[in-house]
Amino acid sequence: MHTEPSRRPFDLPRFQELCERSRTPVAHLEWPAELGSTNDALADRLTADPQAWPDFSVLGTDFQSAGRGRLGRVWTVPPGACLTFSVPARVPAAFPVEMIGWLPVVTGWCVARALAAAGVGAGVKWPNDVLVDGRKICGILTRAHPSAGGTTVIIGIGINVSLTAAELPVPTATSLLLAGGSTDREALLAGVLAELRPAVAEVLAAGDRAGASATAAGVRSAMVTLGADVRVELPGDEHFTGRAVELDDTAALVVEVDGTRRRVSAGDVVHARAL
Ligand code: BTN
Repeated sequence: MHTEPSRRPFDLPRFQELCERSRTPVAHLEWPAELGSTNDALADRLTADPQAWPDFSVLGTDFQSAGRGRLGRVWTVPPGACLTFSVPARVPAAFPVEMIGWLPVVTGWCVARALAAAGVGAGVKWPNDVLVDGRKICGILTRAHPSAGGTTVIIGIGINVSLTAAELPVPTATSLLLAGGSTDREALLAGVLAELRPAVAEVLAAGDRAGASATAAGVRSAMVTLGADVRVELPGDEHFTGRAVELDDTAALVVEVDGTRRRVSAGDVVHARAL
């Protein structure tokens, strides 16, 4: 039985030292003790002063009072129990809009790799969760923000670090603490950024060849949704069940239903184990 861990404030100097050691310096970093939502706050900051926020800057916090989840849900966790932050990534004007679905899945893959370094084996669930033994440990919320000459994607990441079983938002979630991994938030953030920067840059540079990139191959191999029986929940209450068989060139999920392949680019899936 785990006891409530101590939740010290995020240690910025230590984090910066770790980034320098891994040669991933962060151009701009803000970490207020509390924010509404890091995604919303980063959008406001990008509007007010975009130049102050180069790509892969970090806006994080120890507590979100109005954290956002996907599909209009809320994301609520006790102070200091999660790693919650957002980073901006500018999308080149030439990047095809239909390829933008790569960003959340690539982010999930990067988080899974950083979690492996923290001692926990994780997989990516389409479109943007990270699971450990079928349990959600990380949620990702991307948001397009208009910027001069194009779009900036705000990548918001929430990783359950020291949540105890009693604190889990749903019984199907988990945390690094519960999965037996390291709960060092500074090292975890440095690890995620070290993965995220080259992977996102590769996909954005690949343009309409994003699906053929080495990063895309890595995502496919880490995607636990592939091969699973899933229930697909589409926007507007429609749903169907089938087997997920492919992540196509645009990062859409291809689901086989009675011998027919259906391509899903927006929606949610529930894996058979949880059906
Ligand atoms: C989901 O699983 O529904 C997505 C959850 C995303 C949570 C993160 S925490 C940091 C960033 N700021 C937010 O308000 N949400 C994302």
